[in-house]
Amino acid sequence: MSSSVAPNAVAAVSEARQWDRLMQMARLGAIPGDGVNRACLTDLDHQARRLLIGWGRAIGLAPSVDALGNLFLRHEGTEPGLAPVLTGSHMDSQPNGGRFDGIWGVIAALEAVQAIREAGLRTRRPIEVVAWTNEEGGRFAPGCMGSMAYAGFRPADTWNDVTDGEGLRFGDELRRLLDAESDIPRRGLGVVEGQAPHAYIEAHIEQGPRLEAGGHDIGVVEGIQGSRWFLIEITGKSDHAGTTPLALRKDPVQDMLRAIAALNALTHDPADVLRFTVGRIEVSPNSSNSVAGAARFTVDLRHPDAAVLTAKGDAIAATVRAALATCTATVTERFHALPSRFAPTIPDAVERAAKAQGLSSLRMTSGAFHDAQFLGPVCPTGMIFVPCRDGVSHHPSEYSTPAQLAAGARVLAQAVAELAGG
Ligand code: GLV
Ligand code: MN
Ligand code: MN
Repeated sequence: MSSSVAPNAVAAVSEARQWDRLMQMARLGAIPGDGVNRACLTDLDHQARRLLIGWGRAIGLAPSVDALGNLFLRHEGTEPGLAPVLTGSHMDSQPNGGRFDGIWGVIAALEAVQAIREAGLRTRRPIEVVAWTNEEGGRFAPGCMGSMAYAGFRPADTWNDVTDGEGLRFGDELRRLLDAESDIPRRGLGVVEGQAPHAYIEAHIEQGPRLEAGGHDIGVVEGIQGSRWFLIEITGKSDHAGTTPLALRKDPVQDMLRAIAALNALTHDPADVLRFTVGRIEVSPNSSNSVAGAARFTVDLRHPDAAVLTAKGDAIAATVRAALATCTATVTERFHALPSRFAPTIPDAVERAAKAQGLSSLRMTSGAFHDAQFLGPVCPTGMIFVPCRDGVSHHPSEYSTPAQLAAGARVLAQAVAELAGG
């Protein structure tokens, strides 16, 4: 590929087409306030995947699906035996999510490949658009199941028995999806089955305030902070709320409050770098005039320094148990993603592309986790961030402008063309 062709691909990126596709996707699971609720492996997820497959086929891309339901759309290279450049993100959303988290990275990847094709570029390497299964972890915990299995970080059957809020098993819902997509060719499971990519690059909204506040167009992501998820289940004894003296109760809700207070003390960080969140609480039987019999809550803990994350996370179980007055607790770790630093290859390519296009960029670490975290150890990996309004995400009001998203897609097109070219 000569150095003069990439600008043609950049010019072929269509702001209007990308935005129109995003808005079509946003209708699948639309909720009030411009939000989206499209949980993984639901019928809405199936519909979104079909829409994507249709768009890919219409421009000559070949779809395939692996054992985790990760979906790929392949642009063939002039040397098809070479490892592909992989680009994409996820199509599932948070339960009260927005229109851009994840899905934009998939649509941007499609836009970049379409632009490359329309510009007449014949890349040496294949390029594959990927939509990873269950990045959010909102329906089946944890997130990033598809990319973890693809990268060989966990065996493919690790999460089969994980259930959603209605008791449906991940393994069964995955089987349902694969049956519904039996017309799509099956492929081996990534690195585990000898199909390591040449490089991975993921476009995503920033989900934080730094780019907007600093007036930057593009975030050059150099790494991702670490995350650990825990499920804490407290068992007591359900009783009558009017007749049972407090002294005789084993009330898991009261012990949950004590445990959360103790965890707040454990994770207190005046610098506000350590992030501690209790995002989900379930009480059983959940009746106003019964003392609860059981309470469950989740902990999401994040820090960019592995030593801090390890020390604080490892202290959670003992902190919870020491705080209980009358009940017992089990603590289960469900997700453990250590902080990752990307090798310089892709961040440098992103920065170069932004500069060549006259865009301002900022090198940064991601506070959110992403599938890129699990690709980092297996191939050169990077991410492109674009600003989002007020830094808001995981909320219906999440928003980036068509122009901001088009700028991100242009940088992606240039970086992908460069990586696939030679
Ligand atoms: C990803 O959605 C995250 O929670 O960081
Ligand atoms: Mn995301
Ligand atoms: Mn998310």
